[in-house]
Amino acid sequence: MLSAVLILASSVRLAAAATAQGFAPASTGPLVQTVNYTSFSNSTLKDRPTCKGKAFNRIIQVWLENTDFATAASTEAFETLAKQGITLTNYNSVTHPSEPNYVSAIGGDFFGMHDDHMYHIPSNISTVVDLLEDKGVTWATYQESMPADEFYGFSYSAKNYIIPGSADYPFYVRKHNPLVIYDAISQDPKRVKRIRTFNDFANDAVNGTLPQWIFVTPNMVDDAHDTTIDFAASFLEYWLLPLLADPRVNDGETLIMVTFDESETFTEQNRVFAVLVGGAVPAKLHGTTDDTLYTHYSTLSTVQANWGLKSLGRGDTIPGLNNVFAWVAAKTGFRNVVLPPNEVPQFNLTGVAPGALTSDLFQPFAAPNLKARGAGGGPVLTRPGLNIHLTVASLPPPVSLTALNKTSPWQMSPRTTSGKAIIPCADALCA
Ligand SMILES: *[C@@H]1O[C@H](CO)[C@@H](O)[C@H](O)[C@H]1NC(C)=O
Ligand SMILES: *[C@@H]1O[C@H](CO)[C@@H](O)[C@H](O)[C@H]1NC(C)=O
Ligand SMILES: *[C@@H]1O[C@H](CO)[C@@H](O)[C@H](O)[C@H]1NC(C)=O
Ligand SMILES: *[C@@H]1O[C@H](CO)[C@@H](O)[C@H](O)[C@H]1NC(C)=O
Ligand SMILES: *[C@@H]1O[C@H](CO)[C@@H](O)[C@H](O)[C@H]1NC(C)=O
Ligand SMILES: *[C@@H]1O[C@H](CO)[C@@H](O)[C@H](O)[C@H]1NC(C)=O
Repeated sequence: MLSAVLILASSVRLAAAATAQGFAPASTGPLVQTVNYTSFSNSTLKDRPTCKGKAFNRIIQVWLENTDFATAASTEAFETLAKQGITLTNYNSVTHPSEPNYVSAIGGDFFGMHDDHMYHIPSNISTVVDLLEDKGVTWATYQESMPADEFYGFSYSAKNYIIPGSADYPFYVRKHNPLVIYDAISQDPKRVKRIRTFNDFANDAVNGTLPQWIFVTPNMVDDAHDTTIDFAASFLEYWLLPLLADPRVNDGETLIMVTFDESETFTEQNRVFAVLVGGAVPAKLHGTTDDTLYTHYSTLSTVQANWGLKSLGRGDTIPGLNNVFAWVAAKTGFRNVVLPPNEVPQFNLTGVAPGALTSDLFQPFAAPNLKARGAGGGPVLTRPGLNIHLTVASLPPPVSLTALNKTSPWQMSPRTTSGKAIIPCADALCA
């Protein structure tokens, strides 16, 4: 098993440079700023947990990369986490490859995307950020090795701190930073400041001002993308385990979810390891498992149930796919739905969904289902500029732009950066 994992990982592009040497931490501690993250924090959030949730007052999602459930489950760091929390044994990604999964966790859909290209999503499409702000819940994303706050580039190569003296390494990629992809967030001058670096995480945590909803993306070596599960496990031992014991991060009412964007084996159901730890998880549930069917949409609906939020009217309101984490469902009175096995979708399908973010089966963005009711009980939240009459049912049939030598109008040409921060002008945005 282990050797198979290593062989798979070493065949991954770019892996050789990073795995030639074992894990090395980017800093001397998880809450110490470091030059290895390119630039230091120049601002501190002033957030306090103001909106009390029914089951938790803060949620921190940490997303790792491309690992099958069994591989993670048999690794010591994950066994350690499992003993301190609830392991979700039937948590599923929604498609392949990476980027559409990240986008789904923020907007409740991947809009047909089936690659990792550079996209942006128009500002009339709502996200979890709209739902949170509507109730006054504070939020931020912290992206390891992102060179500066608000960074819009496709990737960023920095000094290789793992193997000193070797070429700059692409530690940061936009495809794992879903909030920047949504114009409603990255084109809003106030919101974009909440797309923050890992040095900011240290700064905000030390100052006791971490927000209530947090999405953490470790860099391309620490999240196992270019490396092995053992490398990611070492990262968790360095970064997460100390923070679990630090009340500035895990304050007793904090829920921390560690999971993966997608599985490694595309020919199997897209089940990934997910574990719920942190002070908000009732002690009597430590070391237990929960076999309810969950998806990335479950994280959206769990957050909605916890704070009584409105919904997006997309995947977050599809019964059975939006099941709320069981102990939160019990506290909030939400009834989860058990789908018969033949109604559970194949989460490993790629390139079969039409949408605005595919050139093969292109359709315009549709309005969400305004009649849907989510786990928070409120109505569907809509943003300015949304044409509510453009429903899924009224859209024209999908067309292949690829056959016409065209791409989706929401796809941009990436200008990959290396060494220096060259922020590309997004074609559609800077015209
Ligand atoms: C950068 O990373 C290397 C490798 O772990 C480490 O030895 C060094 O101390 C780090 N630099 C700083 C300033 O933390
Ligand atoms: C510092 O602040 C400026 C202005 O807000 C911002 O553009 C820049 O990215 C910040 N630096 C870092 C390291 O985030
Ligand atoms: C936040 O913490 C840092 C130490 O990391 C300190 O230098 C800074 O002054 C603090 N900022 C605020 C606004 O409290
Ligand atoms: C998806 O996984 C199922 C098993 O759940 C498998 O039968 C199917 O062939 C897989 N699909 C693809 C496209 O690999
Ligand atoms: C959303 O906005 C985009 C850009 O203005 C527009 O092309 C699209 O038709 C709109 N979609 C809906 C459902 O309102
Ligand atoms: C598409 O582009 C390729 C290469 O630029 C060209 O050879 C081909 O004729 C084009 N096809 C169409 C349908 O325009």
